[in-house]
Amino acid sequence: MNAFAEIVARSPGRVNLIGDHTDYTGGMVLPMAIDRYTTITAKPLDAAILLNSADQPAELNCTLPIVDPASTVPAWGRYVTGVAAQMNVKRGFSGSVSTTLPLGGGLSSSAALELSTALMLCLVNELPTLTSLEMAQLCRRAEHLATGVPCGIMDQLTCASGVAGSALLIDCHSLQVSPIEIPHDVNIYVQFVAHRQLASSAYSDRVAQCAQAEQHIGPLRLAEVGNVRNIADDVLRRRALHVVSENDRVRRATVALALQDLTTFGQLMNESHQSLRDNFEVSTQQMDEAVRNAQQTPGVFGARMTGGGFGGCIVIAADSTTNIDNLKGAMLVKPVGGAEII
Ligand code: GLA
Repeated sequence: MNAFAEIVARSPGRVNLIGDHTDYTGGMVLPMAIDRYTTITAKPLDAAILLNSADQPAELNCTLPIVDPASTVPAWGRYVTGVAAQMNVKRGFSGSVSTTLPLGGGLSSSAALELSTALMLCLVNELPTLTSLEMAQLCRRAEHLATGVPCGIMDQLTCASGVAGSALLIDCHSLQVSPIEIPHDVNIYVQFVAHRQLASSAYSDRVAQCAQAEQHIGPLRLAEVGNVRNIADDVLRRRALHVVSENDRVRRATVALALQDLTTFGQLMNESHQSLRDNFEVSTQQMDEAVRNAQQTPGVFGARMTGGGFGGCIVIAADSTTNIDNLKGAMLVKPVGGAEII
């Protein structure tokens, strides 16, 4: 490889249309990779990674191999060193990273950084090409290692395997990914509400509560609403009710999208928000207000919080012939292909 050649690796972020807090119980999700990217431009470098960020003050300067990614300073570099530790690589790179995704905004800026790092490290170390699934699994393990957040597979798998023009129905148990075309009659918008950090949120508590609920009724992905009623503890029952009903909503929303029944699709989005707010309790007042405002806007089929919650963004599905400019800061996003070397 020409040591002076500059390589560009980029990964899209993602927005989840419906199906939140279901992936880590092997449930159903319907996200799409979006036309907002994290891009690393770099040259190969022996035994180190030097990376400055257009969006963060401190640069990452670390020696390979990485022993403890969780202690990397600056903290944003942990997503990079987590991937390097997982890949156990000797060659790194020197360059810069920039993003058009809001950081900590629930649009998978961290998964996009992990994936572009993985692609870059594969190339500079001349490793065999990994499949999208292998790449996503590696990056998910890297995130666990680097941040301690027990995230599911949705973000990494969506950023790795995006399909232009389509959302992805992902069964997080079988890991089957099925593209579902987005009809031309609908536009997808995201509206940023507030920054958040999953590591300092109650995300891990929710993962633990789902595991506890499963001790009562078995895998939530196989459970039905009737089974959930057998859980005596009120909090665990509501958590389980969200997951079980959300899996069902994802399945129905997928059918509605395929049939171009956007009214039903929108209603399911609205119901999803209600369940995330009342049963799973991962929304915030600010997000509820933004969602309510969007839902009341003419031309909007449906709106909900998206991603892990506790802040971040909301997602809106609107009639493509209607102008929703009055929704302040709503950003039109298009479904795109997955992470790549360009
Ligand atoms: C975060 C996690 C995902 C998923 C969502 C909630 O984005 O990284 O794995 O659990 O929250 O759906």
